[in-house]
Amino acid sequence: MKTILNFGSCCIDHVYQVPYFVAAGETLPGKHYAVFPGGKGLNQSIAIARAKGRVHHAGKIGQDGIGLRDQMLDAGVNLEQLLISETNTGHAVIQIASGGDNAIIIYGGTNREIQASETIKFFTNRAAGDLLLLQNEVSCNETAIRTAKDKGMMVSFNVAPMTQEVFDLPLDLIDYFIINEHEGRALAATDNLEDVPNRLIEQYPHCRVLLTLGEHGSWYKDATTEIKQAAFNVEMVDSTGAGDTFTGYFFAALQAGASTQYALTRASAAAALSVTQPGAATSIPFAEQVDDFLQNRQA
Ligand code: RIB
Repeated sequence: MKTILNFGSCCIDHVYQVPYFVAAGETLPGKHYAVFPGGKGLNQSIAIARAKGRVHHAGKIGQDGIGLRDQMLDAGVNLEQLLISETNTGHAVIQIASGGDNAIIIYGGTNREIQASETIKFFTNRAAGDLLLLQNEVSCNETAIRTAKDKGMMVSFNVAPMTQEVFDLPLDLIDYFIINEHEGRALAATDNLEDVPNRLIEQYPHCRVLLTLGEHGSWYKDATTEIKQAAFNVEMVDSTGAGDTFTGYFFAALQAGASTQYALTRASAAAALSVTQPGAATSIPFAEQVDDFLQNRQA
């Protein structure tokens, strides 16, 4: 793939360290508070750039999100397709429980104000051989999928967060489904995780399914190939953005000509490194750190 066009969200993440996730009716004192750059789109663009991939980020931020733009510029993301509006940037409220698990509420803001006419313009210089990367945090996903396909592009859809509206999208046009366990079960309409890839492949025969399973690794399946990749064992501090790191590194490796097996290994190493650091975008490792990690683990 020549260029990756990531049409995705940018969020300001408000992150609270808590002893456990707050329950209904409970008021829980936070132990620590910090603000980080985030949004699944931004995280994935930064991951691709840190992995030395070529990525254009398309999306919309407000004036309060200029810091997010600067983080992407620093990482080397092409921002010709980033719009800036007068309304508020999307944000997330994130609880990090002791042990590193997270619970996230997102508010769309500018991410959900993108218009169809703006979306079509994002594709002006795109052509067959390019990849559209999507998550489910922006408006106009359907326009993006159809425009990409009209141009002969491949489409990867990270079905996160999973919502009922996903079923209204032209899912038969998706080339890669990137899903975690919960998203996979909901998308494939089964309680049995083992059935998820086969069900999706039965329904959309040309699709490639990539399940990210946290400490249980990842599972790739298409009509002819199946690969299971174990997770690397590390001390987890904050799992936020691990899936985005995985996705970005996976596609950057494919873009560089790697095999699917090697792309999965490299993506797993990058995701493992990311959970050892706090924050989403801030925790994404650089390519050299991933090289060192893999060398040490394989030695
Ligand atoms: O995947 C992690 C991201 O999800 C966070 O950065 C948050 O912004 C939400 O979009």
